[in-house]
Amino acid sequence: MKKSILIQKEILNTSEAAELINVTAQTIKNYIYSGKLKSLKTPGGHHRIRRSELEAMGFSIQKGQVSSGLSREDMLAQYNQLLEGYKKTIEILIKALDRRDIVGAGHSVRVADYASWMADMLDLSLKEKENIMMAALFHDVGKVWIKEDILSKNGKLTPDEFAMMQKHPEIGEKIVKDVDCLRSAQALIRHHHERFDGKGYPDGLRGEKIPMGARIISLAETYDFLRSNLPFRHSFSPEETVAEIKKVSGAQFDPGLVKIFVDNVERRAFH
Ligand SMILES: [Fe+2]
Repeated sequence: MKKSILIQKEILNTSEAAELINVTAQTIKNYIYSGKLKSLKTPGGHHRIRRSELEAMGFSIQKGQVSSGLSREDMLAQYNQLLEGYKKTIEILIKALDRRDIVGAGHSVRVADYASWMADMLDLSLKEKENIMMAALFHDVGKVWIKEDILSKNGKLTPDEFAMMQKHPEIGEKIVKDVDCLRSAQALIRHHHERFDGKGYPDGLRGEKIPMGARIISLAETYDFLRSNLPFRHSFSPEETVAEIKKVSGAQFDPGLVKIFVDNVERRAFH
């Protein structure tokens, strides 16, 4: 039914009430069962809701506009609360992810840091930068499906274990598919192990066919991997790490990105 007609109605059924205040019919029923919303019962046992009861709950319904009835300050407070909850949830998820990986605590946040920093050096839109940062935070989310004994193996992986490990970008892509705020990050998560020479995985993309964000994350991830202490080796120094990265510039990494990255590492923009 058209909203303009619904707005005129004094008594609504659950579907109409739901449509009017933009919630599901189940939410209306939950309001009724929890006592937040008073309803009338038809002889057949169906709920009918007076428009005034919706208004009593704080929904302001007038002249074609439906609002929550909250003041701007209240809405801002609610938004900030949501944002804080959202940030906290991401933080907990990322910590849990990093805990299982051989590189350990802080890896995903550092990769996001380096990747954001590189994105800042390039002429990318704010949306692209945000996307790269989110993809970098969740680049290894697919590892949740990889067995812990493979992830934390202290030594070389067998061919089967390596094949399993190589599935994590595709698994990660599937995991974030249904998450609104990560939908644009899908391609970057899928392609963060491609190589500039086309010998990477999962699709063997080459050069600029690899999304820029994925090329950035690949470099950022390797930098952090080499700089980290592992159970079987010490961390590389910034100079050693730069030397290793330069060796595979043009093969594993985009040479243009390596140049920007190395120049700034050498200027100690970060370490
Ligand atoms: Fe990865």
